[in-house]
Amino acid sequence: MKKSLVVMAALMAATVMAVPASAEGEKVGISMPTQSLERWNRDGAYLKEQFEEAGYEVELTYSDNDQQKQVNDIQNLISDGVNLLVVSAIDGQALNTVMDEAVEANIPVIAYDRLIMHDGSTYYVSFDNYTVGVLQGQYVVDTLDLENAGDKVYNIEFTAGDPADNNAGFFFNGAFDTLKPYIDAGTLNVVSGQTDFDTVATAQWDTQTAMERMQNILGSYYADGTQLDVALCSNDSTAMGVTQAIESDYAGDNTVIITGQDADEANLKNIVDGKQSMSVYKALANEAIVTLDVAKAILAGETVDESFIESAGWEFDCAYDVESYETTPGHVCPSFLLVPNVVTADNIEEVLVAPGYYEQHDDGYYYAVQ
Ligand code: BGC
Repeated sequence: MKKSLVVMAALMAATVMAVPASAEGEKVGISMPTQSLERWNRDGAYLKEQFEEAGYEVELTYSDNDQQKQVNDIQNLISDGVNLLVVSAIDGQALNTVMDEAVEANIPVIAYDRLIMHDGSTYYVSFDNYTVGVLQGQYVVDTLDLENAGDKVYNIEFTAGDPADNNAGFFFNGAFDTLKPYIDAGTLNVVSGQTDFDTVATAQWDTQTAMERMQNILGSYYADGTQLDVALCSNDSTAMGVTQAIESDYAGDNTVIITGQDADEANLKNIVDGKQSMSVYKALANEAIVTLDVAKAILAGETVDESFIESAGWEFDCAYDVESYETTPGHVCPSFLLVPNVVTADNIEEVLVAPGYYEQHDDGYYYAVQ
């Protein structure tokens, strides 16, 4: 996988982006995939708040993970006269017609978190998705000290995300590339033999689907007492299903290393309780800030390129990448990629609480601060 970042900088530039003269009368349409997963509710809320505070009128839609509904929702936003669209695609390949309509109407589209496979995506704002997978894989390498494993063999199974979501392949490849040397060396053994993305993928990132697949794997390959050491899951909704399968259908008494992503509240609870090992946290509030700043600049007719990062004055790291995300062969969507972080039971306070993203309640668990 191509993975070279053009600029990676700590961004504390003194100059702050000039706010365009006025957002007066300008309307932004935000299309989110679903409310059924915790993160998109937060994304929607942060984006709406950011844009409204900056003076824009906002229309926010959720499409219930129904790709046709998302097409209709975006068409309605276009007919409502939005000046810019922020879209997180349910299926990155399925928005061609409506993207053509946006281009026709001269409406810039920011692909939010998930790439839209259409050249009308003006910019892509996301996290470094490949690195998310690398962090999950590296966590396994470090926790099991695979470098020094000698003759020891650890058993592992993979659960990836939705093939319709362009991110899912990046997450899986980041994790798989990191673990492959140990699979090749025989230190990691994929007992089911399922290592191909399409085989381990989970339609719609659905918890129940991930649970059922893992129950089948446990029934077929682990019922004889074979020990499962690692369940590499691409995100928290799939990790939740896999955790449930392990609780219900795994006879072993060892603690299985389970990875995740998003720091969903229910998964953080599992991390505190020792049922899930780690998650990858992505500061969605910062993703919304980048989106707003890029949107403002586009609407003000300013140039948005590498130099934008320096003038933006963000207090967090973000890279400008013009190589990794192709919308069609040979056409790359310029991307702003934020930096993901590992969360474990040992660093929740440091990574989530100290910066003010989460707070601990009286029940001992952690909840996102809205
Ligand atoms: C997002 C993840 C999320 C997944 C399922 C991906 O596109 O980047 O944060 O877990 O979708 O909603």
